[in-house]
Amino acid sequence: MSARLGRTEALSLLSLSLACIGILANTLHGDGEPLIASIAFSGLAFSFTYALIRWLGNAFMRAGLKGKDLSKLRQVEIPETMGAVCAVVYLLTTIVFIPWPFYKDIVAATSGGGNRDVVLELQQVETGRLLHRFPHSKLASYLSAILSLQSIVILGIGDDLFDIRWRHKVLIPAFASIPILIVYFVDFGVTKMVVPTPLRPYLGELFDLGWLYYVYMAMVSIFCPNSINILAGINGIEVAQSLVIAVLIVFNDALYLSPFTPYPHPATDSHLFSLYLLLPFIGVSVALLMHNWYPAKVFVGDTYCYFAGMVFAVDGILGHFSKTLILLLLPQLFNFVYSAPQLFHIVPCPRHRLPHFNSRTGLLECSIVEFKKPLAFPIAEALKLLHRLRLLRIETNEKGEVISSTNLTIINLWLVWFGPMREDRLAMGLLAFQTACGLVGLFIRHRLALWVFTQDNL
Ligand code: UD1
Ligand code: MG
Repeated sequence: MSARLGRTEALSLLSLSLACIGILANTLHGDGEPLIASIAFSGLAFSFTYALIRWLGNAFMRAGLKGKDLSKLRQVEIPETMGAVCAVVYLLTTIVFIPWPFYKDIVAATSGGGNRDVVLELQQVETGRLLHRFPHSKLASYLSAILSLQSIVILGIGDDLFDIRWRHKVLIPAFASIPILIVYFVDFGVTKMVVPTPLRPYLGELFDLGWLYYVYMAMVSIFCPNSINILAGINGIEVAQSLVIAVLIVFNDALYLSPFTPYPHPATDSHLFSLYLLLPFIGVSVALLMHNWYPAKVFVGDTYCYFAGMVFAVDGILGHFSKTLILLLLPQLFNFVYSAPQLFHIVPCPRHRLPHFNSRTGLLECSIVEFKKPLAFPIAEALKLLHRLRLLRIETNEKGEVISSTNLTIINLWLVWFGPMREDRLAMGLLAFQTACGLVGLFIRHRLALWVFTQDNL
């Protein structure tokens, strides 16, 4: 990869940046238009990330942040941990963005001119509030999101540097979720959930989960980053799946903000909040994908996987749509459950489970885990059953003992179903699947939810 930007690249990035700066300058008049500003900031974030990935690639290699592309004929080393570049640009963008949604509100809620002596009645502020302007208290949530993301980036870089063992690194996101959980506790504290209609006679309309709600939120934060990290190993898949999820959440947010939705809708603010966190994420991720797509010129590193997952977790928790979020992560959930036997070492788990590159055909095939010791009877039977259901492929010896199995990832399963294929076609197939699942998930969320809940909150 050349460390310098080509002429056309440099000119395109420059003109995009200038256009975005122009738009930002315009939002300084009048009401500030935070949503427009957020889009402009995302454009800027894209340009910066794109250029920085190029400029910093060699420095990362020198620092030892590099990896071999295992699915290529020539296994050259390329820079790894480029997600750190994304994350840093993202964090700076979201911090510099703060005045747009919050500044006017600080002034509106006081007697103006920055004086905080006379604070206006909340009622007055609420009703006189401009569309898309946040109450000041939301700033606490916003800052806690930034804190959590910052923590996950530090821990993620640590993992990329020291290659932490799997059983320890699953818990990394739990530490990073502490800031949002604490601020949620101090600031918001709602731990009730809406009860599905059939259960209402027993539990009432709202059920207070109490501290279990915090456990639930911590579990969401552990699940999202790890589930993206284990659906990985072929060029582009980590970033592209995150982009599909982000775009689907943006689509869902837009449903609440469209001119056809009655305003003010109770969920408007939450979904706007979600957009402010996601748009710059899309900006930095597109820049990374352009370098990570097949044939990859950089790797994203665990930093990116954790960071992306945490953006979703934070977004879903603070935007109050964590159940919808899970619907959009169904392929990741399936992959997680499917991987569980290997993750918990019920079945042996090699260091890498990515597909096997056949250098003769240039195609990817399922990777195999061999069982040196015979498996326990129930486990062997379970694998045989899954084999019959075409949910994996095993080999048995003449005694009928299972001697090997395909690795338990959805990527390998795809190859079991559709046969060997080139790396980019495999990624495209999985992404199409992710998109289809997400759209069905959203449909279920907004249509079928009426069966179990009395109303769709749209
Ligand atoms: C996770 C998976 C592991 C998978 C790995 C691939 C589990 C428990 N762990 O481990 O099975 O093999 O991700 O990312 O499911 N690489 C490529 N091509 C790519 C991406 C990565 O060859 O497109 C290789 C490179 O050598 C790179 C390395 O994978 O250096 C990165 O692996 P790492 O992210 O450290 O693996 P884990 O997240 O621990
Ligand atoms: Mg990884």
